[in-house]
Amino acid sequence: MTDTAPTGHRPPKTTGPDRLATGSPGETGAETAELAELRAELREAHETIEAIRGGGVDSLVIGPPGREQIYAVASADRTYRLIVKAMNEGAATVSPRGVILDANPRLGLMTGQTVSKLIGTAVLDLIPEAHRATSARLLDVGAGDNARGEIELNGPGGTTVPVLLALSAFDLDGMLLRGLVLTDLSAQRRAEADIRDLNAELEARVEQRTAELGLANKNLEAFSYSISHDLRAPLRALQGFSAALLEDCGDRLDETGRGYAGRIQAASERMAALIDDLLLLSRVSRADMNLGRVDLSAEVTSIVDEMRAQAPEPGRRVRFAIQEDVWVTADRALIRSVVQNLIENAWKFTARRNDALIEFGTMPADGAVICCYVRDNGAGFDPAYVNKLFQPFQRLHTARDFPGTGIGLASVRRIVERHGGRVWAEGAIDEGAHFYFTLADNSRAPE
Ligand SMILES: Nc1ncnc2c1ncn2[C@@H]1O[C@H](COP(=O)(O)OP(=O)(O)OP(=O)(O)O)[C@@H](O)[C@H]1O
Ligand SMILES: [Mg+2]
Repeated sequence: MTDTAPTGHRPPKTTGPDRLATGSPGETGAETAELAELRAELREAHETIEAIRGGGVDSLVIGPPGREQIYAVASADRTYRLIVKAMNEGAATVSPRGVILDANPRLGLMTGQTVSKLIGTAVLDLIPEAHRATSARLLDVGAGDNARGEIELNGPGGTTVPVLLALSAFDLDGMLLRGLVLTDLSAQRRAEADIRDLNAELEARVEQRTAELGLANKNLEAFSYSISHDLRAPLRALQGFSAALLEDCGDRLDETGRGYAGRIQAASERMAALIDDLLLLSRVSRADMNLGRVDLSAEVTSIVDEMRAQAPEPGRRVRFAIQEDVWVTADRALIRSVVQNLIENAWKFTARRNDALIEFGTMPADGAVICCYVRDNGAGFDPAYVNKLFQPFQRLHTARDFPGTGIGLASVRRIVERHGGRVWAEGAIDEGAHFYFTLADNSRAPE
């Protein structure tokens, strides 16, 4: 930057008349004189500091006569000048009329011009037309004010350079100057563009994989549907002929033979039940979704009423606590099947409790519009196997203790996932089970 103050030096003042050195009663003459001298030195030091602060001193002369040392305060400026010259940002001082008074080499590099050419140029000439208005606004700050903004500079060879402009205005001997620091944002912009490209690529890949996965899922569903369907015909033959064997030829079979035929019949019936469940699961995954507002509390109440009416154990006492007015956006038939499975399970696994309590309600959950739960105080389960619960045909209790095929929770999971939510469970043996499910914000159904 240009020097604005001439360099000179002022020797320290010699001790002058001292109105502070009056002494106090009781002091000896020698003490009074020494005190006066000290006070004078103090005052001189104070004046010198004030002069340095006010910019009126360029150098200091310190030390006794003959051994004086000169300290040039101006050398501090030089340090700053070196820093400005070496810094990685472009820097310039601009006159009140917007003419560059001084610039550092880095600004030269950024604009593709020499420093001497930059000096005397109108600063707005360095800025492409499109950014001139913004830059002019930024430049229009009063003394003592700062401004920051992202603009572009005309770079070497017709290029443009994105920069962060930090500007401070100051008053120098009545002249309003502006100091500009320009940080080159090219590398940052390149990194941002790279990240954007990578993200776009990643998104495209995720989309492609999702589509592939969706297709594979659909194929698998179709496959499992047709297999289940096709298995029914031979199974019917097994059931029919084993029944016919017993009926028509039972008297020609001995006890063992009849036992075998009976087992074939029982096993084929069990297989038919499993196939029915598989088909049910497949239907749940393939059924068209028809979203609407559903009063889930009303659905739960009607399920409970039906269950009470049909329950094979008459007089069983089960208390229900059902939160009212739980509304969700979902496919009515599918979401009803979710709560039906959960409530039927709760009913089944509390069979051995006299004080059975089944609760349905909602609770807050991160990132979900709604989180519903079904809780019971029944047999519970071993939490070590909690992940198995939602897999088809996985059961944590024997069919002798609690009947079932193990397909209910698998279909619960599929339905909830089709509604963009998730389902999980908590429980402990003999301490009941808690099942939770969320539904997504707009219940968008991923196919
Ligand atoms: N409320 C509950 N309390 C304790 N264990 C449970 C509860 N709900 C489910 N389970 C456990 O999870 C297993 C799987 O449940 P799921 O509903 O899928 O099958 P299921 O009820 O046995 O048979 P299905 O529902 O096909 O008739 C159950 O066999 C049981 O071990
Ligand atoms: Mg079940």
